[in-house]
Amino acid sequence: MAHIVGGLASSHIPSIGGAIAKGIQQDPYWKPFFDGFPPIHDWLGKVKPDVAVVFYNDHGLNFFLDKMPTFAVGAAAQYNNADEGWGIPTLPPFKGTPDLSWHIINELVEKEFDVVTCQEMLVDHAFTLPFKLFWPGDACPVLTVPICINTVQFPLPSAKRCYNLGKAVGDAIRSWDSDLNVVILGTGGLSHQLDGERAGHINKAFDLEFMDSLQKNPEWATQFSIHELVEKTGTQGVELVMWLAMRGALGEHVKPVHQNYHIPISNTATGVMALATE
Ligand code: DHB
Ligand code: FE
Repeated sequence: MAHIVGGLASSHIPSIGGAIAKGIQQDPYWKPFFDGFPPIHDWLGKVKPDVAVVFYNDHGLNFFLDKMPTFAVGAAAQYNNADEGWGIPTLPPFKGTPDLSWHIINELVEKEFDVVTCQEMLVDHAFTLPFKLFWPGDACPVLTVPICINTVQFPLPSAKRCYNLGKAVGDAIRSWDSDLNVVILGTGGLSHQLDGERAGHINKAFDLEFMDSLQKNPEWATQFSIHELVEKTGTQGVELVMWLAMRGALGEHVKPVHQNYHIPISNTATGVMALATE
């Protein structure tokens, strides 16, 4: 059966793609953010995942406001990136693993999660940039399964439901007849609001408590409604439900590998975290 080695979470701000393309990771503005990654590279070098299952939110590249699934799972052999208009390089295609995708889809529908299945799916910065951060070489060394959660157009799924989706995805992976090693990614957050009167809103106290809770009490954030999460973390801060889905997939016991928190990059309080399963 497949083995889950652990989970990774990161913010996914488009300008990260520009910084990587320009090679300015050591500039004073970027260094405190990029310094969060080398210890995680070392850990990935040891656990050597073959597959990455990624919880992220599409921002209008693949789904637009006319058709917005709550949960969508990629089931393609390849996922293409495309120009989103941020002025950042378009990345080469990512390889899929339709075998695992369909196993996850079957298990999710069996457990009453109604997912949209996508045999073609463009992936945006929320999917692509974390790969550049966690595996900074030219080629992406893992197969991928994108799982998209709507945090763009209301109604959004609750934090509790996202955590439970993660749990169901974890169970599905552990029952996949394969000897491959899988890592789970959750991308987005932490607190940020890009628009409206509260543009620039950041909530460091909440972010740090949330990061802490993922180890000590992963269900802590599921007490909050989506509206409460927006109030606390901003309209785009709700992307932190991706971290919860990732944590749900890992099972009960996790060990911290490394984490970093830095304010701000662009409009966002950035967080990165790696957790190992025991
Ligand atoms: C920014 C953050 C995001 O999560 C995103 O999807 C787009 C932009 C930002 O802070 O610039
Ligand atoms: Fe985002």
